[in-house]
Amino acid sequence: FELLVKGLMRLEYRGYDSAGKDIVLIKKKGKVKALDEELYSKCVAAVLGTHFGIAHTRWATHGEPNAINSHPHRSDKNNEFVVIHNGIITNYKELKKYLNSKGYEFESETDTEVIPKLIKYVYDNRERDDLSFSTLVERVIQQLEGAFALVFKSRYFPGEAVATRRGSPLLIGVRSQHELSAEHIPIQYNRTPREKNSHNRPEDSSTAVSVTGDGKGMEYYFASDASAIIEHTNKVIYLEDDDIAAVVSGKLSIHRLNRQAGEDPVRAIQTLQMELQEIMKGNFEAFMQKEIFEQPESVFNTMRGRICFETNKVVLGGLKDHLKEIKRCRRLIVIGCGTSFHAAVATRQILEELTELPVMVELASDFLDRNTPVFRDDVCFYISQSGETADTLMALRYCKERGALTVGVTNTVGSSICRETDCGVHINAGPEIGVASTKAYTSQFVSLIMFGLMMSEDRISLQGRRLEIINGLRTLPDMIKKVLALDKNIKSIADELYEQKSLLVMGRGFNYATCLEGALKIKEITYMHSEGILAGELKHGPLALIDKDMPVIMIIMRDACYTKCQNALQQVTARSGRPIILCCQDDPEVSKNAYKTIGLPQTVDCLQGILSVIPLQLMSFHLAVLRGFDVDCPRNLAKSVTVE
Ligand code: G6P
Repeated sequence: FELLVKGLMRLEYRGYDSAGKDIVLIKKKGKVKALDEELYSKCVAAVLGTHFGIAHTRWATHGEPNAINSHPHRSDKNNEFVVIHNGIITNYKELKKYLNSKGYEFESETDTEVIPKLIKYVYDNRERDDLSFSTLVERVIQQLEGAFALVFKSRYFPGEAVATRRGSPLLIGVRSQHELSAEHIPIQYNRTPREKNSHNRPEDSSTAVSVTGDGKGMEYYFASDASAIIEHTNKVIYLEDDDIAAVVSGKLSIHRLNRQAGEDPVRAIQTLQMELQEIMKGNFEAFMQKEIFEQPESVFNTMRGRICFETNKVVLGGLKDHLKEIKRCRRLIVIGCGTSFHAAVATRQILEELTELPVMVELASDFLDRNTPVFRDDVCFYISQSGETADTLMALRYCKERGALTVGVTNTVGSSICRETDCGVHINAGPEIGVASTKAYTSQFVSLIMFGLMMSEDRISLQGRRLEIINGLRTLPDMIKKVLALDKNIKSIADELYEQKSLLVMGRGFNYATCLEGALKIKEITYMHSEGILAGELKHGPLALIDKDMPVIMIIMRDACYTKCQNALQQVTARSGRPIILCCQDDPEVSKNAYKTIGLPQTVDCLQGILSVIPLQLMSFHLAVLRGFDVDCPRNLAKSVTVE
């Protein structure tokens, strides 16, 4: 069970209200550690005889986080069937009513519990005794509406595991004592065109399963994402919607729901590049802190092999075949949520300048709420660290249906957004574990800039600008190191601010996105009220908040907005405000009006946001530590939100 608990701990960053595993159905409210302690205190002997365990960490959508609502859920007191589920069953009320009428009693408030009850119902009413476990599962999922990744276990099928998905991610790690190739794994896989996904609001949670083969040297690990299994294997198979995977007698088979005879292609086993140490904290206090300090390397890795500094050519391999089509488009629509949306805001202006196309930036949820008109000649970008965010994924499917070209910009190879887009860019920032995104943001930023550079390669009038930006990118990792060296200064400012209730962050132009992103970081992990304010809007409302007691951070860089930002500064100081100013090093003009300054190295205007966001990442980190909060696991939030 150590393997399962460790796997869950690695998945915990995805969501962590409660956790459970199935040995004798042990469940706990809270983080996986609580479950681990319970397991050791009970130290169940039964586990020693089994080769198959399931475990789950839950982020609640239906029913509060408590032991009863946590997974696994069971069919009955004898645990005839047990199930773990990531997603949401939208027709659970109807199913529950029906099952109630058949005498089934429910113990939790979750939507998930209908699944084990339903499989028991199907089993008890089977017409033949020889129905396989996977056939039972097939019959169950035909009745389910919504989104799910599921793993089933049953007393009637000892040592067998059945897993399936629709709308929620699920992969299978494969470990073998032999060199792995497809023929070692008898996979039957039938590819049919992806069905339209009409499912929504999946419960966001994560699943880890391991199955050990029967002496043939095969082990299989089912998990919501690779971090749970990477210490055991880097060979994975990504399941697709309506795949049903079964492990029987140590052999894995995968088939499609309602498969047709004769279809039998083999599913590819992919090799992950992820290393275990990438998902370990090392000497840092928190993953977030580690990830902030990794940015010189992560940004470099985003550019590695893509920019030729001799010829000033930028090639994004995943886009080059579509470049002509993109250049002909009517407009670019850049869609994301949270931090990923801010990366779109941060690069909008330079994309407009370099592509000479209209660029819309959209929050995925709002884009869908508005039923935004999308056309065949639109190009739609989906920015997502995880590649699994439900809102962004729904927006992708929406645009695909309307014939737009879809481009993914993600940090997770093999994720749903990667697989469902026509083409894309991997940002190569390395795994990001801290719930508050940091290095993914700067790498998304750089990726979008590289896209702009690629689009403008043959525009004579833009060559000067391109050169300036490419030179800026070349020195960016060193500049980031200089900003990180300001950590002590930033910590000392945090020492003064940490007992405050609010913190405003103000700026405009290329640095407006930094204000939004900085305020988001502060909200997420310090629970202080924080707002990113466009300095141009100051006089239209936010100025009313300013007095000598309201902490304000202002970003004033030497760019086209410098004079306007100084005006805003005057307005703030005239109201006795005491601004902490992020400005260029050696700017006496600005410094003389500041309560405190953080002096940053100056780079090209459109790249400055990469440098200006880092002090705010560091500031939020220090504030959260000083306020006594768990930086990596902020309350109520999850890293990968697979719920709409
Ligand atoms: C969640 C995370 C945020 C993240 C957002 C979008 O809300 O807590 O940190 O920015 O999802 O995630 P994505 O994986 O699509 O970038």
